[in-house]
Amino acid sequence: MPNHPISFALAPMAGFTDAAFRRICGSFGADYAVSEMISAVALTRDDAKTAELAKITPGEPPVVLQIFGREPEVMARAAELLLSGDYRGCSYATPPAGIDINMGCPVKKIVSNGEGSALMLDADRAARIMSAVREVCERHGVPASVKFRLGWDAEISPEFARRMAEAGAQKITLHCRTRAQMYAPSADPSAAKRAADALRDTSVPLVGNGDISSRETAAVYLAGGCAEVAVGRAALGDPWLFQRLKHPEMPDDARPSLEEIKSLVLSFVADVVREKGEERGVRESRSRAAYFIKGLRGSAALRDRLNHAVTMEQFASAVDAWEPERIQN
Ligand SMILES: Cc1cc2nc3c(=O)[nH]c(=O)nc-3n(C[C@H](O)[C@H](O)[C@H](O)COP(=O)(O)O)c2cc1C
Repeated sequence: MPNHPISFALAPMAGFTDAAFRRICGSFGADYAVSEMISAVALTRDDAKTAELAKITPGEPPVVLQIFGREPEVMARAAELLLSGDYRGCSYATPPAGIDINMGCPVKKIVSNGEGSALMLDADRAARIMSAVREVCERHGVPASVKFRLGWDAEISPEFARRMAEAGAQKITLHCRTRAQMYAPSADPSAAKRAADALRDTSVPLVGNGDISSRETAAVYLAGGCAEVAVGRAALGDPWLFQRLKHPEMPDDARPSLEEIKSLVLSFVADVVREKGEERGVRESRSRAAYFIKGLRGSAALRDRLNHAVTMEQFASAVDAWEPERIQN
């Protein structure tokens, strides 16, 4: 295990790591969170929806803004806009804690443009993007980082990590799957060790990512030389995981009480409604609340009621009326 304080991060998840969710994870101990991915092209074209993705609101943990794109100049311009705040719709309660570059997104629409994980097929371009963004970050005094996968369809992450470190990456997050694997089968934490070994004589920390859902799964990455870990999907239904990761004295199987779950659901929807208005806030919170109640007795019935809730009051009264017993599993 590293002998310095370990950071536990909320990994970027488009459609999920919005301000309300980042705030929740921060309240349970996430040391920082990465935003949903932001299109560099759209940002430079003054797109209002894109500006919304970059919002940072009060009470959040430090937020690193993640950008995607394929042209080094456009990526540098987007980093400059985000860090200077000089774009329409900019709203930061606290300044961005850094810029992360997405070189891992596997989605067809993205990779067919040569963006996301397609950059792992063109290390020269990836390095040009990295150094262009680093240069901007340096001027603003924040770190430039990059997140990628093991490779396109075979592991090249040790060499790629070194290349990115040489091009100026100050932190690297490795999702231990190839692009071809998408989100299954299981991530391979032993690959993080190989990348950490390749970075050993640099000062660049490696953040391990993939299938972390407990202290035990996190420990495998840390034992392999990762300085930090980033949690993705497991946090969607279990943001309390950050508490257990941060506090080794807590039992790893500790789970929140029903009252804590209810209060989380209600504070989440209230937060989203505050930011997005009642109609949109309630609508967008339905599927998100389902993650928090998953696996609990009566959750299907509650989900159904939440799906019919239109107002905050209906949403809250459905949650208040819910009285399941916890399923022991
Ligand atoms: C719905 C969803 C959206 C994601 N969006 C992003 C993204 O915007 N940027 C990124 O770098 N990774 C994204 N990821 C990948 C996650 O950050 C993470 O690498 C992956 O889910 C593996 O970690 P996990 O097993 O802990 O979920 C996304 C994953 C999911 C499931």
